[in-house]
Parts: sequence; C-alpha cells; structure tokens
Amino acid sequence: MLPLSERAAALDGSDVLAPFRDRFVIEDNLLYLDGNSLGRLPKDTVRRIREVVEQEWAHEVVLAWDRWLDTGTRIGDALAPLIGARGGEVAVCDQTSINLYKLATAGIQATGRSNILTDGGNFPSDRYVLESVASAAGGRLILAPDDPTVGDLEPLIDGTVGLVALSHVSYRSGAMLDGAAITRLAHDRGAMMLWDLAHSAGAVPVQLSEWGADLAVGCTYKHLNAGPGAPGFLFVRADLQSTLDQPITGWFGHKDQFGFADDWQAAPDIRRFLVGTPSIVSMAGVEVGVALTAEAGIDAIRAKSIALTSLFIEAVTPLTSHAVAVITPLDPAERGSHVTLRHPAGFQIATALRDRRVIPDFRAPDLIRFGFAPLYTSFAETLRAAEILGDIVKSRSYESFPDTRHGVT
Ligand SMILES: Cc1ncc(COP(=O)(O)O)c(C=O)c1O
Repeated sequence: MLPLSERAAALDGSDVLAPFRDRFVIEDNLLYLDGNSLGRLPKDTVRRIREVVEQEWAHEVVLAWDRWLDTGTRIGDALAPLIGARGGEVAVCDQTSINLYKLATAGIQATGRSNILTDGGNFPSDRYVLESVASAAGGRLILAPDDPTVGDLEPLIDGTVGLVALSHVSYRSGAMLDGAAITRLAHDRGAMMLWDLAHSAGAVPVQLSEWGADLAVGCTYKHLNAGPGAPGFLFVRADLQSTLDQPITGWFGHKDQFGFADDWQAAPDIRRFLVGTPSIVSMAGVEVGVALTAEAGIDAIRAKSIALTSLFIEAVTPLTSHAVAVITPLDPAERGSHVTLRHPAGFQIATALRDRRVIPDFRAPDLIRFGFAPLYTSFAETLRAAEILGDIVKSRSYESFPDTRHGVT
C-alpha cells in the first residue's frame, strides 16, 4: 500500500471535481473543514448578488417583483432533483426550524394522532420545535435512541404516534439513516414521515419520491453553499399538498395573493406552505449554490465525499491510542460527509486547530466535527488537517488553550 501522502496526491490528480475549487473564493492557508456548518462563498454568488442589487433592485425597484415573486418555487424546482423529488414538490422559504414547525404541525393534524417520534441525538432546534408541536396537539415527543435503526424505532411507533421526524444525516455523529426502510416502517404503522435533510442536501443522494416520504425540510447554507442565514427549503409530496393545513397562514400561501381577500384560502399547491416575503438577496445565493451542485452532479459529489472521509478516518485512526475516538460509522454507506471525533479535551483541541488555521467545529460536550465539501476540499488538505491534529494531540499542545467554551463553537 502506498503511503497516505502519495495516495492523497494521486486522488487529487484524478479528481474530476477538482476544477470546481476555483469556482469558490478560497482563502490561502485556511484549512476549512466546516462546510457542513457554513459552505464557502461561490464566485458566481458575488456576481449574482451584485446583479440583483445593482441592476434589479437599483433600476427596476418594485417592478422586479413580477420576476421575484415565484423565486422560492422556481429555485425549489431546481433543487428537487438533488433530493429525489419532483418539480412542484419543493419550495425554498423561511428557516429550517420554521419549515419544520409548519410541516410537523400540518402532518400531525392530518393523522389525528398526537405523539411525535424523533431520536435523542436529533438537532436541538428540531427537538424543541417537535416538542412544542406535539404538546400543542395534546401529545408528547418520544425519543428513540440516537441514530436509530428500524429495530430501535419499531417498538416505539404505536397507534398514538402520528409523525416520525428524523435527521437523515446526524449533525453529531454523521451517521446516515436508512431512508427507505424507516419511511416504510412509519407508513406501515400509520404515521407520516418527515426527514430533516440539513446535512444531506448537496452532500449525499436522497430519494424522497422513491422512499415515499411525506415531508422534508433542510438548510441551504451548509453543503449547498448558499450563504449565512440563507433560506431553508421544504418538501411536501404532491398528493398531500391539497390536503394539509399549515399553521402560518400568510399571504404568500393564499390562492389569490393579490386579491387581498378578507379570509385566507389556501393555494392548492406547494405555495400554500409559503408565508411571507422572501429575502431576494439571500435567494440569489441559493440559486447559485443549487446550480453549482447540479452542475457537479450529486453522484460525483458522493463518490468524492466517501473518498475524503475514508482518507481522513484512515489518517486519524492511529490517534485512538491518544484518547481520540471516531464516532462516525466506519462503513461509508452509513455516513454522510462529516466525520466526528470524540476526545475529553475536545474543546481545547478544536481551539488549538483553529489556532493553526484548521477550521473544524466543536459540539459540546466533547465532539469535534470535520466537514468535507467535495466541491472545494482537496485530499491534500484532508491529510494535512489529520497531520496537524495528530501533532496537537500527541504533543498535548492543546493543554495551553482554555477549556471554557465561549461564543460560537
Ligand atoms: C439538522 C439541523 N436541523 C435544523 C437546523 C436549524 O436550521 P435553522 O437555524 O436554519 O432553522 C440545523 C442547523 O444547523 C441543523 O443542523
């Protein structure tokens, strides 16, 4: 077997996605491995935002709304194939947490049941929102073990559970769940299935239609590189759209928005899940991010993601003798595009890495996440990050950094 450095060089040499790196603004000497939290800035986004601001807003002012009005559904149609959905089933709007509230409420009401099932390792915002939705329906949030299998979920879905809501790829462990099998299980037990695709969209192939999923939400600022705070997206399967009632009845969801009627009447299609005026400048980032991902192709992205995460895991495995544990599944088929390591001094190590210009993130109490973005992360960078980590852990140089968490981690 060739040494890791030669293998990394060979992988970079044959990388079909390598040209995409130049489509991003890349800061020299910054080993950025946090694209699973905030993706890098595509150069086209700078151009497109300038166009929206300097031409459309500056010269057309309110007249541009004729074109802007359907931005959320237009970009949703472009995003749909990346998550295995059809045109008319996806809209870009609001934040993921808000979309989750809308769809979970609509879903639980439609089943007439009151309990919601998620897992203890789901993203805190998801658990908070789902808890309040279940409680408003007179039920409660049931927590399955972290990163649940079908076997873990099966005994928990009884006749009281109306909605199963899970993250397809865990923000913590990076574990990827079996979308088809879990959706089938939920349906067999009379529950609806809602997927959070925050760490999946743009990183791994998702087949919402094939799975028969009912509902989904997700972020665009992570692997879709849409920009800080860019709007999220929602998916509602076509045959459900006219039957679900969403709780925030804003004018963008009205069937005749500019009729200014006294009463709210739901649009018959995906538009009924919209609420208010979209952020057009931020939408420009989503448009570019989705187009770049579609151009590269989700299968090529997935293939490189597996190669990157495999190389990183192999390179950090010797550190297990220094109290580093890899908590992400070792089988590539069971993980997304980030790798999470556990170490009792995780916060200090993450700080020491940042000090050396390696950017992972830290998730309390002891997890360090490394995100791999196939559109701009190289194999050489991946190996270099593992080497710097090894240096910090073996020399215990992290001990000179404070261990009190502060600010954004
Ligand atoms: C899995 C998951 N769900 C939901 C959210 C919340 O997204 P937002 O803050 O855009 O509502 C995040 C944010 O990182 C996330 O990782």
